[in-house]
Amino acid sequence: MSRKQAIIVVVMLVTAIAAVLLAGVEEGLTVSLLAIILTLGALSVLVLRVQHAILRELRRSSTVTKRADEKASRELSKVSSRQVKIEEKLAVMRTETKATNTKNETRIAKSASDVDRIRQLRVRLEEAERRILAGTEVSRLSMEDAAKKLTNQSTRESREVVLQVESLLQLFADGGSSRHAPMPPTGGYALDAQALLHLLHLIRTKRPRQILELGSGTSTIWMAYLCRELGIQLVSLDHLEGYAARTREGLQRHGLEDIVDLRVAPLQTYDLEGKTFEWYSSEAFADLDQIDFVIVDGPPESTGPRARFPAVPVLWDRLSDRASVVLDDTHRAGEVAILKSWRSQFADLVQEDEGLSRLGVLRKGTGT
Ligand SMILES: C[S@@+](CC[C@H](N)C(=O)[O-])C[C@H]1O[C@@H](n2cnc3c(N)ncnc32)[C@H](O)[C@@H]1O
Repeated sequence: MSRKQAIIVVVMLVTAIAAVLLAGVEEGLTVSLLAIILTLGALSVLVLRVQHAILRELRRSSTVTKRADEKASRELSKVSSRQVKIEEKLAVMRTETKATNTKNETRIAKSASDVDRIRQLRVRLEEAERRILAGTEVSRLSMEDAAKKLTNQSTRESREVVLQVESLLQLFADGGSSRHAPMPPTGGYALDAQALLHLLHLIRTKRPRQILELGSGTSTIWMAYLCRELGIQLVSLDHLEGYAARTREGLQRHGLEDIVDLRVAPLQTYDLEGKTFEWYSSEAFADLDQIDFVIVDGPPESTGPRARFPAVPVLWDRLSDRASVVLDDTHRAGEVAILKSWRSQFADLVQEDEGLSRLGVLRKGTGT
């Protein structure tokens, strides 16, 4: 209600009240009725105007509401379209995420297989490392073993050299002035110095009347000097003319050719114990009897197995009762076997003087 309307209403009311108060007066009644009618009319106008205002207000608010609805609907549609976009984006993102996940899963699977491969490689590497370590250990042990063997061998060889030098010193200690020429070398095919010293010692102590040497060379020269000194007869056989010639030259150089009866005795076949052997021709010793010292240093191993075995069985009947049979190279298994066979077949033979050199010394036990 506007201010103007309020004033009209108040005036009407005042007029009506005045009319009521004046109702006691006759002419007043008419005025009062008029005032009331006017007031009622004013009130009706007022009511109409209020109604109109309310209607207007209702219309305005309806318009506002409509606009607000429209605005809200526009906003809603905007929001909806945004939502659609967001959902689209979300769908794209989901697809992308799925693709990324698939990629990642593939990568993870690949990484897992890589890890597995790396693990297998590591296992193989460790295995290889173990093998290398084991191989190195085996090599180290075998090297140590080889070094030990070499050390032992070199110790043995050094010892051997010392023994040889000691023997040579003794061999050359006396009789130097009686020697006409340099002595031939010892060792190799020839008797080594130790065996030579032992041989000369045996001859000096046993004083045989007759010596038969099987295999000539350096030993022949050394024995010839001693045989000349002691008056011993020396017969030496060689199966090869060339080596016999060398020995002959040596003997001549030393002026000993008359002391030694050097004979070439080509090999012939002997049947012994059901086996065949190539040994010195029987013609070469057919005239020999009562031999009391045999040095067996031939034929060489290269002529056949147990090449020296025939010496005792073939010569047995030509040996004196006090005969000694001396075999070189008894550090070899073959010669050990020959010694054993002789002793088992000829019970009269006894072994003596062991350990002084490579010579194996057997003596006929029936002699003195
Ligand atoms: C062990 S050798 C005799 C060595 C001899 N008792 C000495 O002390 O010099 C046996 C036979 O082998 C032969 N012989 C010697 N020297 C040889 C050589 N260097 N190569 C091959 N045969 C050899 C000779 O016929 C010899 O009679």
